[in-house]
Amino acid sequence: MCGISGVVGLKSISNLLFEGVRNLEYRGYDSCGVALMNKTRLIIKKDVGGVEEFYRKHNILQLKSKIGIAHTRWATHGKVTQNNTHPFTSRDGNFALVHNGIISNYRPLKDQLQKEGFKFFSETDTEILAHLLEKFFKRSQNVEQAFVKMLSLIEGTFALAFISSHLPEQIFCAKRESPLMLGIGDEIKFVGSDFNAFIDHTKNAVILDDGEYAILSRDTYVVKNILSKEEVTKPITKIEWDSETSKKEGYPHYMLKEIYEQPQTISNALDMETSELDEIVDWFAKSRNTYFLGVGTSFYVAKYAKYIFSRLAQEFFPSISSDEFMVLANVKKQSLVFAISQSGETFDTLSALKHVKSRGARTVAIVNVMGSSIARLVDKVVLQRSGPEICVISTKTALSQMVILTLLAMKFALKKKIITRKTYNLHLRALRDLPAIIQGILNERSGFIHRLASRYSGNRNWLYLGRGVYYPIALETALKMKEVAYIHAEGMSSGFLKHGTLAMIDDDVFSIVFVPPPEDKVLYEATLHSIEEIRARSGFVLGIHFTPPRKNQDLYSEELILPSMPPLTAPLIHLVTGQLFAYFTATSLKCDIDKPRSLAKSVTVA
Ligand code: G6P
Repeated sequence: MCGISGVVGLKSISNLLFEGVRNLEYRGYDSCGVALMNKTRLIIKKDVGGVEEFYRKHNILQLKSKIGIAHTRWATHGKVTQNNTHPFTSRDGNFALVHNGIISNYRPLKDQLQKEGFKFFSETDTEILAHLLEKFFKRSQNVEQAFVKMLSLIEGTFALAFISSHLPEQIFCAKRESPLMLGIGDEIKFVGSDFNAFIDHTKNAVILDDGEYAILSRDTYVVKNILSKEEVTKPITKIEWDSETSKKEGYPHYMLKEIYEQPQTISNALDMETSELDEIVDWFAKSRNTYFLGVGTSFYVAKYAKYIFSRLAQEFFPSISSDEFMVLANVKKQSLVFAISQSGETFDTLSALKHVKSRGARTVAIVNVMGSSIARLVDKVVLQRSGPEICVISTKTALSQMVILTLLAMKFALKKKIITRKTYNLHLRALRDLPAIIQGILNERSGFIHRLASRYSGNRNWLYLGRGVYYPIALETALKMKEVAYIHAEGMSSGFLKHGTLAMIDDDVFSIVFVPPPEDKVLYEATLHSIEEIRARSGFVLGIHFTPPRKNQDLYSEELILPSMPPLTAPLIHLVTGQLFAYFTATSLKCDIDKPRSLAKSVTVA
């Protein structure tokens, strides 16, 4: 959702700025721009397109400067054009500013500025900010005062940074509800939307809170409160991630690398301190009503949690998509709201959690990014330790979240004495066996999945079907197909099919069915009925199942046979096959795998 990067150092920083903004490209990538300082004159370059293309086209690395800011955009206000690309400059050319978020009161401010003779060249909400800086600087002749005055007028959400020829060795930045952090090195300082902007150069970060601004120069920095203008002492957060894990390491795409990292991320999740989870289990027990919350993939993880808690712990905890939460959930003081968010920055989830907190209810979250807004907001956070996920499409983080939620459901079931210690240990064994089984699938089945995906990559319509806990798996894997291959894929509970959608079955609508292991008798048989319904209408069915060949002959048009699995972990194996199927379909279609069109990894606006 737009990436901001800024660097001030001793020597030329052009290449560091490039690395920073390139590492943030997953936040948005429709246009890119930089502002650098030539002695005391600002140089601005911007264009539509991705970061690398922009840098190459405009020879940006040839421009020498010890200070600069850069931006990679995901359009919200205004189309993808050069004029709408950040940075924006003031009329006198003395201020250049980049912004992430939405200034909700930009219209009256723009009207006023226009009356005062300021000209606008973009359709964005951001351009006013550069003009306001110029206007207030003229009055006070003080950059910081002009900045604070501008901040006091604007409403909405922002992470922003600017440089000015009036103070050519300083970067100014501020934050409200959009993420922004500082990287603190020796004789070099960074600002970035997240750690990726500077992780290669320093692991010391200062995470800005809402309502704070900072001024950085090469050898020092200060953080202040916008309202009181008083200095705030901020702790240094040590970044645990290794920058090497953010590299592709020979994989053609981050998506594939991250799918292949899943055995490791599951092991990391299972190595978590159990005491961390035990306290949450106590909270489940004490809560009057518990909700799971998330959006996009994280909503499907929340839906998976709903099924797994019902199955193991005999508790019905509704899952609600974050964007609908406030109109639907009935949160009381004794409620517990459990959020799921890979980035920890998603606006809809963050807003829902703020609403929950205002009601005095308890909040818990699983997040992957330490120091993220959600991690800092909730009463208790579970850090899933999946390592950086760079591809816009979530894979390893979703699977890892499902594993943690399964573990929590098992613990809750044990506490409620619904399962015995022996059954608990059996389930735990099944979870611990998962990494090796997934490794086997990746090693032995991915070639087969690749061939299947290539063979059917021309098909434009898929129904993804599953029953019970396989239903959220169908939804999530269908979402992968839509996101990465731009193919219409509708996830549905297979029992629902006959109530309408069955009418769609023809030569152009193909189905993928996630079949449970036969031991899961009720679900298994119900799923086979749905397949029969499709086959009776001559529909194509790709069955992903655990039954040995020869059984169920003629049931499937195509089949993918998986190694036999206990019912507890079988859906998670289906998830991996669905991820691979979407990935290989997209590579056959030559799609932009890691940066699909129109998407952003963390959506920090409403
Ligand atoms: C965006 C991403 C999705 C993601 C969703 C929630 O829409 O494109 O892939 O699932 O945000 O993100 P979160 O970081 O909260 O899990």
